[in-house]
Amino acid sequence: MLTLGIDTSNYATSLAVFSKDTGEVVCDIKKFLPVKEGQTGLRQSDALFHHIAALPEMLRELSAKADLTQVGCVGVSTRPRPVDGSYMPCFLAGVNAAAAFAAARKIPVVSTSHQQGHIAAALYATGNKALMDGPVLVFHVSGGTTDLLYCPSLDHIECVGTSGDLYAGQAVDRLGVKLGYPFPAGQYVSQLAESCTDKIRPKVSVKGTRCSLSGLENQCNKLLDQGKSREYVCRYCLLAIGETLFKMASAALEEYPGTPVVFAGGVMSSSVIAQYVKERLPQAYFVPGRFSSDNAIGVSIMAARSFL
Ligand SMILES: [Fe+2]
Repeated sequence: MLTLGIDTSNYATSLAVFSKDTGEVVCDIKKFLPVKEGQTGLRQSDALFHHIAALPEMLRELSAKADLTQVGCVGVSTRPRPVDGSYMPCFLAGVNAAAAFAAARKIPVVSTSHQQGHIAAALYATGNKALMDGPVLVFHVSGGTTDLLYCPSLDHIECVGTSGDLYAGQAVDRLGVKLGYPFPAGQYVSQLAESCTDKIRPKVSVKGTRCSLSGLENQCNKLLDQGKSREYVCRYCLLAIGETLFKMASAALEEYPGTPVVFAGGVMSSSVIAQYVKERLPQAYFVPGRFSSDNAIGVSIMAARSFL
């Protein structure tokens, strides 16, 4: 049996097909929502419109890659997090498409959240099947979150650390947009950072498992004003995030010793951050960008796991 995953976040429209029988991803496709030059995000009404406009063609594309008549269950993210009050209209586009597909085929819909989809995809991508059953510490670091989550299981997620102000992805995107790159600018910041080899010791603000990242934006602006190269400032920004996450993880590991730490979310596709953290935290798992940035793979896995 196949499961179909649908995720319509504030950044991308994503579809995936997972085989419950082989435990493999059959195919997945993603389309970033268009953001106007110089802007750092979308209004919810615009995000919803772009999802609705993109889904028909994307479903046709998916049907060319997988036999959708074999889909026995549809997984969909209906909200950002699995907590009361968590709501974002952009997810309604996915809910709509999932309901239509499932009703036509008389198959069940598994409603889950964007956060659980991220976690499931990241745990799957580690290749360590035992992690899917927890316990595990997961960093979800993107433009909309800098959360450290303790997951005894995929259905039980406890936020044990976060940022008190700016999210890591916001700090990266604001720097990238300031340098003239289109939003989301993470890949450009990461590329520039990779070409800098300077030894950098970033200053960070972390108390236990809580961090503050608003100072990082100011530090980057100051470094640019001082005439530091774009490459240097991009590397500084990413290493500061790496050091922040390392300190947060170290604090969490005092409470949950020996727990594996998995890094997920768009910001975690940066090889500069991955290298920095892995050198200091041996039990860290970083996963490829396909499974780390927004995707519907995790949602399709959640649908398959509902049959376990
Ligand atoms: Fe996301």
